[in-house]
Amino acid sequence: MIELIDLYKDPQRSIESRIENLLSLMTLEEKAGQLHQAPAPIEAVSELCALARAGRLGSLVLATSAHAGSEEQQVASLDQYNAVQRAAVEESRLGIPLIYGRDVIHGHRTLFPIPLGQAAAWDADLVRDASAAAAKEASAAGIHWTFAPMIDIARDPRWGRVAEGFGEDPFLVSVMAEACVRGFQGDDPAGSESVLACLKHFLGYGAAEGGRDYNSTEITEHTLLNVYLPSFEAGIKAGAGSVMAAFHEIGGTPCSGNRQLLTGLLRDRLGFDGLIVSDWNSVGELQEHGVAESPRDAAAIALDAGVDLDMCSGAYLTHLPELVEAGIVPIEQVDNAVRRVLRTKFLCGLFERPYTERSIPSQEFAEATMALARRLAARSAVLLKNDGSVLPLSKHRSRIAVIGPLAHARRELMGTWSIDAVDSDGVTVVEGIRAVAPDIEILTGAGPSDLDLSLASRADVVIVVVGEHHNRSGENASLADLHLPPGQTELVRAAKELGKPTIAVVCAGRPIILTDIERSADAILYAWHPGVQGGLGIADILFGGASPAGRLPITFPRHEGQIPLYYNHKSTGRPNEGKYLETLTTPLYPFGYGLTYTTFAYSSLSLDAAAISANDTITASISIKNTGSQAGEEVVQLYIRDLVARVTRPIKELKGFQRVSLEAGETKTVTFTIGPDQLSYAGPDGRRIVEPGEFQVWIGGDSTAAQSAVFRVR
Ligand code: GLC
Repeated sequence: MIELIDLYKDPQRSIESRIENLLSLMTLEEKAGQLHQAPAPIEAVSELCALARAGRLGSLVLATSAHAGSEEQQVASLDQYNAVQRAAVEESRLGIPLIYGRDVIHGHRTLFPIPLGQAAAWDADLVRDASAAAAKEASAAGIHWTFAPMIDIARDPRWGRVAEGFGEDPFLVSVMAEACVRGFQGDDPAGSESVLACLKHFLGYGAAEGGRDYNSTEITEHTLLNVYLPSFEAGIKAGAGSVMAAFHEIGGTPCSGNRQLLTGLLRDRLGFDGLIVSDWNSVGELQEHGVAESPRDAAAIALDAGVDLDMCSGAYLTHLPELVEAGIVPIEQVDNAVRRVLRTKFLCGLFERPYTERSIPSQEFAEATMALARRLAARSAVLLKNDGSVLPLSKHRSRIAVIGPLAHARRELMGTWSIDAVDSDGVTVVEGIRAVAPDIEILTGAGPSDLDLSLASRADVVIVVVGEHHNRSGENASLADLHLPPGQTELVRAAKELGKPTIAVVCAGRPIILTDIERSADAILYAWHPGVQGGLGIADILFGGASPAGRLPITFPRHEGQIPLYYNHKSTGRPNEGKYLETLTTPLYPFGYGLTYTTFAYSSLSLDAAAISANDTITASISIKNTGSQAGEEVVQLYIRDLVARVTRPIKELKGFQRVSLEAGETKTVTFTIGPDQLSYAGPDGRRIVEPGEFQVWIGGDSTAAQSAVFRVR
C-alpha cells in the first residue's frame, strides 16, 4: 500500500496528481535543485552523486563545457550516469529521477550528414528515419533528451552554426523541424527508443550581426513572426517537449531574460506548455549582457522571463531559495517551473524507468542504420555543375586520380557536433570509390601532397576533394572569408589546366564562395559534411549508383559582400536598381537549385479557378517531362507571392514541394492545393491573415522558376 505521501510514485495516478502531490512534499531547496542542470565531466561523478543525494540537482547535460560541438570531451560513462541516477532515485529524500540531455544533432554513433546537408535532401521521411535511428542509439547510451533539432533560420553563411540548421527558408525548415521531432520522440517520448526533442534556439539566433556567433540581432516583430517563428510553430505542433532559449539579445533584451519572448510569445501566444531550458550559462550571461547586476539578479530575471531549467550557470540553485524568502521571486514562479520539469520527467517515463541497461544494437539495426546514412549522404549531395555530362563516371574507365586535402579525410566528413563519432567508422572518399568501382585504377597519395598534380597528369579523369575541417563550422566558428582554405582553389585550377575532365567534390559545413572553382572545374558535387558513410554516398553519385537528388536549402553567394543574400527577399521600391557596381547581384547558385543526370521541362501551368474567397482553396497543376536520356528525380517546388498587401511581402516564398521520379521521356502532372495555409502571413497580433488581392504562383525546379500564373482572392 503506497502511503499517501508517496502518491506520486503510483503510475496508476494521473501525471497532474502525481506532480501536485510531489510538489507539496518538496522543500524550497529541493525545488531550486530541480531547476538546476549541471555538466557531467567524468571527474565530477562523486560530486554529482552528492548533489543528487541532497536533492540539489534536476538534470545533467552530458558535456563538459559549452563547446561540446567542437571539443573532444571526457564525459561520464553509462555506468556513471546510472550511479548518479541511483543517488537521486534511491538515496535522496524524494527519489526524483534526473533527466539527461545531450547534443544529438545529426546522429549519435552513426553520424548522418550535417543538418544543412539533410535539408538539401528535401526528404522529410528520410530525415525522420535518421532522427529515429539517432534516438535509438542515443537512448541506448543513457540519453533521455537531445538538444535538437536546431531550427534557426540562417541567411548568413559567415555564421558557423548555419551547418547545424536547415537553411534559409521558413517552409523547408518547418518541414525538417516536424520530421526531426517525430523521429526523435516517436509516438511517445517515454518510449525506450525515443528521446525528448528540444527546439532551439528561441528566437532569431541566425540573425547575429556580421555572422558573428552570439552577436546582437535587430529583428522587427513582423520578420520575427514571419521568418524566424514558423519553424518553432511547426515543431511545437509536432509535439516537441522542450525549447531552448537563445544566448543573444533581440532588440535590447537577451532571449534568456526576455519575458515578452518566452512567456508572451512562446507560452501565451503559441500555447507551448513544455519545458524551457536556457542555453549553456545563458542565465549567468545576463550579467555580461549588462541587464543583471549579479547572478542573483540574473536568476530572478530569467525565471520571471520563463526559463524553467538553468543550464550550468548555477544561479537558480544558489539564489532562488533566498530570492523567494526575500519576497523578490514569487513562489508560484518557482512552483510552475518545477511543475514543468516534473511533468517532462513523468512524460519521459523516468519515474518508472530511471536507469538505462547496457545494450548493444543488433547487427541488423547497425547495418540498416549505416545503409540509411549512406542513402542520406547521397541524397543530400547537390550537383552544382556538370559540363559535358562528365558525370556519372564509367566504372570501367581505366585511370582516375583522386587528390586533394579531403580525399582521405575521415573525421572531417562527420561534420560539426559529431561528439560521439568513432573515427574508424568513417569512410573516406577514396575508400568509397574503391568500394563502388573496384575495377578502376585509382591514382592517389596517402594524403594531401604535392604529388597530387603528378598523379593527376597520369590519369584520364581527376577528382579533387576539397572542403573544410569539421570545426571550421559549427558553434563559435564564424568566418569573414568564405573561400576554401588556402591552396584548394588553386589545386582545382591547376588540375584543370592539365587538360583532364576535372571534378570538384566539396565537403563543407556551409555555403563556400565557389566563384573561382566554378570557372575551373567541369563538375562540382557539393556533399556538405556527409557523415560516417559520406565516402560511399559520394561515390554512389559519382558513378551513378544514385542519381543526384539534392537541392540547395540556402543561397550560395558569389561574394561575401553580397551577404545577407536570400531568395525570399522584398521587392524594394526599385527592384531593378540598387545593384552592385562591380559584381552581379544574383547568387552564384540560387535556393532550391540542383542538377540531376537528366533534364526536365515544365509546361502548362494551370489553375482551376481565376478567383477564390479567403477560406477557399485553388489547385495548381503543371506538366513535367523528363527530357533527358536517364531516369531522374525532380523536386517540384511551389512558390507564391502576395502581390499587394498592407505590408511588404517577399517576392516569392516556398509553399510546397514534391519529389517526382520520371523515366527518360516520361511526363507527369503535378498538382498543389493552395489555401489559407499557403496564402496567409502573420499580422502584428500573430493572427494569420489572407488579404484580398492578386497572388502569383510559380512552379519549377528551383527559386528562379519561370512558369507562373496569377489568381485573385476576393
Ligand atoms: C551550446 C549550444 C547549444 C547546446 C548547449 C549544450 O553552447 O549553444 O546549442 O545545446 O550548449 O551543449
